[in-house]
Amino acid sequence: MNFIYALNFKMNKTATETKEYMQKFDSQNRTVIICAPFTSIFEIKNNHKDALIGAQNVSEFTSGAHTGEIDAKMLADLGVKYCIVGHSERRKFNHETDEQIAEKIARLVEQNITPILCVGEPNKMAFEESSKFVENQIKLALKNVQSPVIVAYEPVWAIGTGDVPTNEQIENMCEFIHKCLNELNIQAKVLYGGSYNSKNYKTINNAKFVDGFLIGGAGLKLDEMELIYKG
Ligand code: 13P
Repeated sequence: MNFIYALNFKMNKTATETKEYMQKFDSQNRTVIICAPFTSIFEIKNNHKDALIGAQNVSEFTSGAHTGEIDAKMLADLGVKYCIVGHSERRKFNHETDEQIAEKIARLVEQNITPILCVGEPNKMAFEESSKFVENQIKLALKNVQSPVIVAYEPVWAIGTGDVPTNEQIENMCEFIHKCLNELNIQAKVLYGGSYNSKNYKTINNAKFVDGFLIGGAGLKLDEMELIYKG
């Protein structure tokens, strides 16, 4: 299966550490998107000419008086092709709202950057409830979107905890997300994220309706990812 592997470095790796990572990086002909901190984006490009560059955030505004913000045009100018939006950590710690997330997606689309929209229920809940929660997040974030997107299903309770859903739970939600996006007429790839690593990848790789993975902790380690790329 030709999976997409999107690596979310989160707030890890200095520019120097990213440079070292990229000098040894070998995607083994897999589709690997590296979503590094803004301060490291240059090092991805400079040390690996074929790497797919992602960012982890973007301003909902265009250029102007927004101290400390980075707009989509600045990302596009650096060769950024993908950008994570609406990660649960930003929803929680930066109080990002669905309205802001929709604006950020609009800015990215204007610059031909593919959004990687993160959705997922905060706690373990029954499918009827979690699917409603996720559907609402998708509808609010993508209300004005027609172009292709990537949606990452990241149940918040599985992020960084080692507590992963069963393949059946992953399949049910990813199939549901594909259905929602079909109804909205949006072309999309659906990723799974949440404690995906070298210990569980063989099992999770068998889950249906999954086009790839959004990876946190394991993505920081080249040797762990090399195992995973081998399949
Ligand atoms: P972990 O893979 O560390 O659980 O992180 C998942 C994640 O939040 C990716 O965006």
